[in-house]
Amino acid sequence: MSAIDRRPPVRRYEHGSRVPGWDDAVDLTKPPATVPDPATTPVPEELRRAIEAEMAKYPDARSASIPALHLAQRHHGWCSPEAIQQVACVMRLTPAYLTSVASFYDMFALQPKPRHDVYVCTNISCSLLGADEFYDAMCHAAEGHGDIGVRGFECLGACDIGPMASVNGEYVGPLDLDDARLIVEDIEAGRPVLEHKQLRRRAVADAHGRVEGFDGIAPVGQEDAVAGSPVSGPVNPEETP
Ligand code: FES
Repeated sequence: MSAIDRRPPVRRYEHGSRVPGWDDAVDLTKPPATVPDPATTPVPEELRRAIEAEMAKYPDARSASIPALHLAQRHHGWCSPEAIQQVACVMRLTPAYLTSVASFYDMFALQPKPRHDVYVCTNISCSLLGADEFYDAMCHAAEGHGDIGVRGFECLGACDIGPMASVNGEYVGPLDLDDARLIVEDIEAGRPVLEHKQLRRRAVADAHGRVEGFDGIAPVGQEDAVAGSPVSGPVNPEETP
C-alpha cells in the first residue's frame, strides 16, 4: 500500500462536499429575485443621491456596490434587508447580488451592530508594539457603552503608526493605553477622534510632498505652514524619535 493510500479519508459533509456550504439553503420554491420596483421601494433621497454619485464614478455601475453598501450601512446602522433592497433599487441590481457582496466582506454587518466601530489591529507589527494590551484596554474602556463595538482586526495597512486602530474608518496611532479612554470620550462627545493622532493629518515623509492633509486641512502643528513650503518629518513634535 502506498503512502497515499494510508492517508485518512477526506471528511465530507452530508451533501458530499468537503466544505460546509451556505448556512441557508436556497428556497427553490420562491420566485426568482428581481430588481426592486422603484414605485414600491422608497429610498431616502439623501441615500439615493449618494449612491448615484458613487455609480457615476465607474463605467460599470456594479463597481460601486461596495461603496453603496457602505453608504446604506451608515444610513441604517447595518446592512438590513431593507437597506439592501434600497441599494438594489437604486443600482438596478437584485438584492441577491448585493447580499453576495455584503456577506463576503466582514466589514458589512448583516445583523444589527453597535453604531460605532473600533477595529484594533492586532496583527504582527502592531502586536509587537503593544496592540494586545491596547485591545484589552479598549474593550475595558468601551464596557457599558453599547453603541461602541470593539473588535480585533488583521493588518489594516498602517503598520508605520502601530499600534493603531480604525475608529469609524478614521485611522489613529501610535496608541498608548490612555488613548482607549480618550477614544470613548471623543466618540460619545461627537468629536473627531484623537485628532492629533489621525493618520490623514500627518505630513507625508516626502520632503517635496504637499503640506496640507488629504482633506485640505493643515496637519496638526503645521497650520501656519505656507503652501509651497513643504515640511517633512513628524507632524507632532512629541513624536520626534
Ligand atoms: S500590523 Fe497593524 S496596521 Fe499592519
